[in-house]
This record gives sequence, structure tokens and C-alpha cells, in this order.
Amino acid sequence: MGFKVAIAGATGNVGREMLNILEERGFPADEVVPLASRRSVGTEVSYGDRSLKVRALENYDFSDTDICLMSAGGSVSKEWSPKIGRQGCVVIDNSSAWRYDADVPLIVPEVNPDAITQFSKKNIIANPNCSTAQLVVALKPLHDAATVKRVVVATYQSVSGAGKEAMDELFTQTRAVFVADPVEAKKFTKRIAFNVIPHIDVFMEDGSTKEEWKMVAETKKMLDPKIKLTATCVRVPVFIGHSEAVNIEFEKPISADEAREILREAPGCLVIDKRENGGYVTPVESAGDDATFISRIREDPTVENGLSIWVVSDNLRKGAALNAVQIAELLVERNLIQPKKQAA
Ligand SMILES: NC(=O)c1ccc[n+]([C@@H]2O[C@H](COP(=O)([O-])OP(=O)(O)OC[C@H]3O[C@@H](n4cnc5c(N)ncnc54)[C@H](OP(=O)(O)O)[C@@H]3O)[C@@H](O)[C@H]2O)c1
Repeated sequence: MGFKVAIAGATGNVGREMLNILEERGFPADEVVPLASRRSVGTEVSYGDRSLKVRALENYDFSDTDICLMSAGGSVSKEWSPKIGRQGCVVIDNSSAWRYDADVPLIVPEVNPDAITQFSKKNIIANPNCSTAQLVVALKPLHDAATVKRVVVATYQSVSGAGKEAMDELFTQTRAVFVADPVEAKKFTKRIAFNVIPHIDVFMEDGSTKEEWKMVAETKKMLDPKIKLTATCVRVPVFIGHSEAVNIEFEKPISADEAREILREAPGCLVIDKRENGGYVTPVESAGDDATFISRIREDPTVENGLSIWVVSDNLRKGAALNAVQIAELLVERNLIQPKKQAA
């Protein structure tokens, strides 16, 4: 007997990827129910070779559903996740609504799987921000080997991280530039086509942005509160795949060769690091892949025990949908959840 899984936000970028990944990985689901806003009721989404009709989240009864993969934004999650959790359905949420709640585990299975046992307090588990997920997958094995002290990261984040309307905006603006039409910015604060924007999410009082703050808070929550981290998050005109230039200072010495060997063995990591033309990964190559790719591993001689690396991953997969499905798999592997139908 398998699980009944609902996907809230099934018509979105992340939701569609969740459907693909559940099917690809053979998640033990007997029934998959796609949910979205009222606007999408009756539209169809693909699940393997089947088409499923979308239903409205607001009318759905979760009492016989086991798991809800939620990717419908922060305000929808704030309203719905506690109600769904109280109906005995475990919510795995992709928004930032619950990530910093002490009663909600924030999980990357390669990094802190044991924290998952805390989920039953609210029946909610949080998925990290896309840029944090790929960063901690790369940092964890290096932290275990040489203890990360300080991280300086600059991100190059694709437009799909801002939803399907943002992808349309890059496409429309690019075409407008080519045909000399006026370029209109709606979703982004400035033109994104042939440009980069050093601003993701709202500004904080100290001059950083919320996206940058998230990377600090989430790395501390999942990996180690002692790690000092500073980030500059930048939106770039790439459709899928976030890249990060990461400079790391360690407590203990670690050479580039040692780091390369450690990362080669680390779960979720794939090292592509040839010191030659094209011997590194770019976001276009990461799209559709599950790995966190690590390239350009080199020592930083300007600090004691320093390394610089280049980290690339498909933000819709490891940064969102894949990580959420891996969390669901972890619940099943550890027998933390049983199908309600079987229990009845
Ligand atoms: N994209 C990424 O890289 C990424 C990474 C990590 C986390 N996330 C988070 O994942 C969530 C979804 O992101 P996305 O990129 O998939 O956004 P998206 O493409 O804009 O999709 C949003 C989804 O939410 C649904 N929705 C909106 N309002 C709703 C409502 N009132 N009730 C029910 N469903 C509603 C939409 O349904 P309709 O089609 O009916 O409007 C759609 O299915 C966000 O919280 C985002 O922050 C995204």
C-alpha cells in the first residue's frame, strides 16, 4: 500500500518539477493529487505518461492524504500548512514561511537528516532557499574535514527562481531588445535581459537583502551556528541553474587536492574540475540534473586555510523539488510515516 501525495502549487515551476521527480524516482505513491489556485481548476498537468486534472487547494480535504508537497508561495503556506498539518498530513514546504521556526526542521538530507525527527511538533518540514541548498551540500563534507570558519559567497541566480512569470519576463524582454520594442520590467525591479540585478527579495535594515539574510540564517540552522557567512545575491539572465562563487576559510589546513577528493566522495556532489577550456560546469549544463556540481577548486593564498570553489545546480531540482521529494523519501525510509489507508 502506497502513500497519497498532494502537490500544492502543481502548475508552477517547482510543482511541475515535483511531479516529474516523484515519478522518475518511483516514489511509493498510490495517488498523486495536483492542487493550485481556483484559476487553474480543470487544467491538466503531467505525471509520467498520465495527465492529472488540477483541483483547488481551498476546497481540498487533506484528512486521507499522507504528504503535501507545498510550493504555492509564503502567504499560502502560512495560511494552509498549519491547517493541513492538523489534519495529520505532513507538509513539506518550499517557501520561507516556516524555515526559521524552532519547531519546524529545515532539512537537506545530505546535510542534517537526523533533524527530521522534530517534524511531528507541527507536521511541517521546511525546504531551504534554493541558493542555500546547493551551498550546504558542498560545504558539509568540507566542514566535516576541516571546519568551516567563514564563507564569502556571490550568487548568480537564474530567473526561474522567481517563478514562471519571471521566466516569461526574461523571454519577452530579450525578444523586445532584438526587435527594438520598448522593454517593460514588471516582475523584476530593473531590466533583466542582457543585464544583472544585485537585488533579490526585500531590503533589510542593515543594507543586505532578505535573500542574503536567508543564506546566513539557513546555513547556521542546518550546518553550524558558528559559521560566519556573508552573501551578495544577484539575479542573472539565465533561465535555469544557480551558480555561486564561494570563498571558504577553514580552522584546519585543507589543500585543493584534498578538497577535490572529499567532494568526489560526498553525497549529492559531482566534481567537474579540469583546469582547461570548458573544464567546469555552467548553469545550462546543470538544468535537468540532480547533482550539485563543483568546479574551479583552488587554494586561496590570501588567508590561512582558504579555498575558492564554483558551485552550480538546477535550482528547481536540488534547490526545491528534488530536495522536497528526498525529504519525503527520508520520512518513508525511517518509518516516520505510514500510509493512512493502511492504518485505517
Ligand atoms: N523556483 C525556485 O527555484 C524555488 C526554489 C526554492 C523555493 N521556491 C519556492 O517555491 C514556491 C513556488 O515557486 P515557483 O517558482 O514554482 O512559483 P510559480 O511558478 O509562480 O508557481 C506558483 C504556484 O503556486 C500556486 N498558487 C498561487 N496562489 C495560490 C493560491 N492562493 N492557492 C493555491 N495555489 C496557489 C500557483 O497556482 P496557479 O497556477 O493556479 O496560479 C502555482 O501553481 C515559492 O514559495 C518559492 O519561493 C522556489
